[in-house]
This record gives sequence, structure tokens and C-alpha cells, in this order.
Amino acid sequence: MKIRPFDVEQWMNKYEVTPGVLNIAETCAASISIDDLVNLCEDPNVPPPIKTSTKLTYGAIRGSDALRGRLASLYSARAASPLTKDNILITPGAIAANYMALYALVGSGDHVICVHPTYQQLYAVPETLGAEVSLWKLKKERKYIPDVDELEALVKENTKVIIINNPNNPTGATIPRSVLIALTDFARPRNIIIFSDEVYRPLFHGISPVSDDFPPSLASLSYPRTIISGSMSKAYSLAGIRIGWLASRDPEITEAIASARDYTTISVSQLDDAVASYALSDSVLHSLLKRNIQLAKTNVEMLEEWVREHGWLCSWVKPTGGTTAFILFKKKGKPVDDIAFCVDVIEKTKVMFLPGSRCFGEDFEGFVRIGFVCETSVLKTALERLTGYVDEYMS
Ligand SMILES: Cc1ncc(COP(=O)(O)O)c(C=O)c1O
Repeated sequence: MKIRPFDVEQWMNKYEVTPGVLNIAETCAASISIDDLVNLCEDPNVPPPIKTSTKLTYGAIRGSDALRGRLASLYSARAASPLTKDNILITPGAIAANYMALYALVGSGDHVICVHPTYQQLYAVPETLGAEVSLWKLKKERKYIPDVDELEALVKENTKVIIINNPNNPTGATIPRSVLIALTDFARPRNIIIFSDEVYRPLFHGISPVSDDFPPSLASLSYPRTIISGSMSKAYSLAGIRIGWLASRDPEITEAIASARDYTTISVSQLDDAVASYALSDSVLHSLLKRNIQLAKTNVEMLEEWVREHGWLCSWVKPTGGTTAFILFKKKGKPVDDIAFCVDVIEKTKVMFLPGSRCFGEDFEGFVRIGFVCETSVLKTALERLTGYVDEYMS
């Protein structure tokens, strides 16, 4: 098995330990502590999440009833028919969820279609498992929304899975409801599984929940051959508890993954499960999401102003969901060398973000990915330093 380096993770690992770094590469909404979480709880009668008297057994193998039940009800909120806890598997982060789903569903002889750019894992793992992968290229002029008409040219007899990422990392684009419906209409007669990485859900900051095009979770639609991954890391600011999940309406899919999961996971930490259940409970969820959506809105406006003021140097499609923005830097009409640019900026200013061509492929020369849902003060200082840098070295 040949495993390609995971470029985003390797870049992060190398540079995030730079002393004094101002990290605007991180994709989590600014992380919080358990104390912060308890302070967000709106009901003073709810006890804190960790009970020190609980025996630390393996706990519930697929994840606690409380957590799976809570997730099932969140995905059922606007769904045609409800999900139950049996539709949900808890995993150590979405990275494990994605891996297990792909490991269980895809192999040699299968063809997979995956949007691009996206999190490298989503197309590199199927390749490693021996599948043929076709990239479904997202275009700036279409606001990085996938074009379902292009699938006719990509699909094959043996296409097993179509993979999307909604909201998308790195562009921050969201796939509207109408496109999701068109996608399920395409997949249904061909019996193709659609796998949606939804780890940035429900962090929507540029589209209203009452808009017709507000994206539902794929798990809320009626087409059963779908599977979604989710996570506590991004929209819920709790990467440190390493809790992710998979949800599918199709018992065949859930059981295939549960069976693969037995070899890698047994169960997740009971402590992590308890913190996630607490964070998603009615008394905490709303204030936690309110904090993060407000943070995203404030910060995306700050970044938008910076991009507008530097229109001579950079351009973007303003993100509508998630925590990342993909910004193209051009000098004298030509894309900058994004790798050299990122390295030089971090060396001279300690501001860290990611180079597009290194982390998302050659098509993205000149692009950088900024994670903007950090603490507002971090983004502000980082952008001030970046202004100083571009004035001195790029004007
Ligand atoms: C699209 C996407 N999927 C999955 C993950 C992994 O998230 P987790 O922390 O839940 O493992 C990431 C992390 O950056 C991501 O961007």
C-alpha cells in the first residue's frame, strides 16, 4: 500500500510550533475549555459533563445512547423521516470517520468521484485503497459550487461513491439545497452512494437558515444511499475531545462500517463522549453555536475588508460557511509563488497560513488558505502584520 504524504497536516505540523506564531491556518472555530463550555450552559441545574465516579470501562461500543440519540434528533430536525441512534456511529474525530467509511466502502475495481479542491484525505485514501479516482473540479467562476451536469462525463459503470464536502475546505463554499437534490436525482437511478464530509456544519455565516437554498445535511434528505461525517472539532470548537461521527439511513452501509470499525476503534473515550453529549444538549448547543457563528461573521467581515483594500493584489469568493477562505494572490497579473510567499511571511512576521499549490494541488498556484474563525484579536494582529509585509515586499 503506497500512502502519499498528507500535505496540509505536514505543513501544519511543521509550522504551527514556530515560537510566537500567529496561526491563521487553523480550521477550528477558536477552541474552548470545559470551563468555557460550562459557562455557556444556560441551565444552572445541569451538572458539569465529567462525573469522576464513573468507572472507566470501554463504555458503549458504538457511542453512548445519549450522544447518538442527540445527533439523530439534530439530523431529523428538517428531515422527511427521522433518524434513530442506530443510524449513527461515533468515531475518534471525523478523520477516523472518513477513513473507516472509505475503508469499508471502497476498494480495487471501484471508481470514485470526489470534488476538488477538498481535504486531501477524501481522494487520497480511496486511491490508496486501490480505487480509481476522478476529480470533480470546483471552479472559481461558479463560486466553487459543483456542477451536477459535469457528472455525466465523469461517471462510469463502476462508480461506487461520489464524495462532496459541504461546507467546503478550503473555499468555504456551501452547496445549496437545489444542487444537493440534483445530485441525489443523479445518484438514485445508478445506485451510487453519496458521501458528504460535513465537519464544518452547521457553521453557516453567509446564508440565512430561511433561504430556499440553505443546505440541509445530506442525512436529512430522503435518498437512503448516503453517508455523512461530522465532528466536534470545527463548528463546536472541541477538537481536543476527538469526537466525530458517521450517519447513514442505509443499515447495510452502517453495518459494513461498524464491522470495519471493530478493527480500529472498539469505542471512543467515555470522557470525550460525555463532553460531546453535554455540548450538544439543549442547554449548551444554542449558546455555543451562537458564539461561533457570531465569531465567524465578525471575522469574515474583517477579512473581507482586508481583501477589498488589497484588491490590487488578491481576490476571492467570499465564503458562506465553515472556517476557511481561499484567496488568490497575483503580482503583475501572475499568481505568486504561494509556497515561497507562505514561508517568507512566517519567517518575517510569524503569521502562518497555508500554500494552495502545496496543500491542494498544482491547480492552485498563487492561492493561500486562511482559517479566519480564530480569536478576533489574533486575526486582527495577523492582518495588520500582513499589511506591513505586502506594503514592504509586494507593492
Ligand atoms: C474536511 C475535513 N474533514 C475532516 C477533518 C478532520 O477533523 P477531525 O478533527 O474531526 O478529525 C478535517 C480537519 O481539518 C477537515 O477539514
